[in-house]
Amino acid sequence: MKILVTGAAGFIGSNFVYFMLEKHPDYQIVGLDLLTYAGNLKTLKTAMEHPNFTFTKGDIADRDYIFHLFETEKFDIVVNFAAESHVDRSILDPGVFLRTNIIGTQILMDACREYGIERYHQVSTDEVYGDLPLDRPDLFFTEETPLHTSSPYSAAKASADLLVLAYHRTFGLPVSITRCSNNYGPYHFPEKLIPLIISRALADESLPVYGTGENVRDWLYVKDHCEAIDLVIHKGKVGEVYNVGGHNERTNLEVVKAVLHELGKPESLITYVGDRKGHDMRYAIDPTKISNELGWEPTIKFDDGIKMTVQWYLDNREWWEDIINGDYQNYYQTMYSNRS
Ligand code: NAD
Ligand code: TYD
Repeated sequence: MKILVTGAAGFIGSNFVYFMLEKHPDYQIVGLDLLTYAGNLKTLKTAMEHPNFTFTKGDIADRDYIFHLFETEKFDIVVNFAAESHVDRSILDPGVFLRTNIIGTQILMDACREYGIERYHQVSTDEVYGDLPLDRPDLFFTEETPLHTSSPYSAAKASADLLVLAYHRTFGLPVSITRCSNNYGPYHFPEKLIPLIISRALADESLPVYGTGENVRDWLYVKDHCEAIDLVIHKGKVGEVYNVGGHNERTNLEVVKAVLHELGKPESLITYVGDRKGHDMRYAIDPTKISNELGWEPTIKFDDGIKMTVQWYLDNREWWEDIINGDYQNYYQTMYSNRS
């Protein structure tokens, strides 16, 4: 079995590469990544030493490159993680989100049609469903919830999902989609909430919480997401969408306080800053389908996951210090200096 993992040098893609190398030692894994600001080859250092892993640098939206790669490699399965993934950046500059997240998806699927494939899997997000109100804790996103997006990021991801389902219906492409809630764990880029809080709290810097901090996210440890994707690509039904989430809702303030508690840092570091435009209030996944059909259940409790994550950032300072000492400083200035 030969699997193409796109976005392999990013957060979830790299965790998936390590997960698959361990779970399926006989599979050949090809990791592809454009190495944008979010992709980091150091993350794949150990994978590079594995005889069953190879890396290729390239753009999923570059048709010639992708077609040549598919013609040469003859993949059995494609798992597409490659994306522009940060909501705040999509508010500053939507264009690249449409190019990578939509056109990139189309080009990958065109290559699958041309060269044949057993399964094309699209890694999507619960953000395609929009948000839920805080005063209706009884409501959850199911696979039947209408798509109703808020940000250029989620609109681009939803557009890609629609294209994936259209390629199945129109061309019979064997596709599947997972829509997962917020992930956390090792190799998470420090522009996202949890690693941003860890890295700033360790430096005793202020911790920017948007709005009132009451927004709710449904957090899942990244390894549980990898397990879900592995199940869906092997046992999930073609043409189907599977929601992935572990009923682990927390307000942003609760998350920040949990991290501070682990680090032994004071809550006085918390600073309320101007809200994100169009900020989604609550995400909450109903995972009944994947649980009933494929037997998937999350295995890592939030308290344990946060402990493991904080420990990983303490043990791997070089990985994230290299990032925050580079272009990231300009990013932080641009994104946070005018928020009041
Ligand atoms: P990430 O930003 O850490 O990684 C994305 C990777 O894609 C980076 O390595 C980047 O270099 C690469 N990339 C970007 N443009 C590319 C292009 N044109 N061609 C090839 N590679 C390109 O993101 P992530 O958090 O690992 O998310 C991976 C996927 O999972 C995304 O599709 C995202 O929408 C989805 N997802 C993320 C979460 C989450 O909580 N992080 C939750 C649900 C779904
Ligand atoms: P993020 O990690 O960007 O993921 P997403 O927007 O995809 O859910 O943000 C998680 C939540 O944390 C979201 O409600 C926005 C909030 N947030 C802050 O309050 N401060 C920050 O500095 C960041 C990056 C996010």
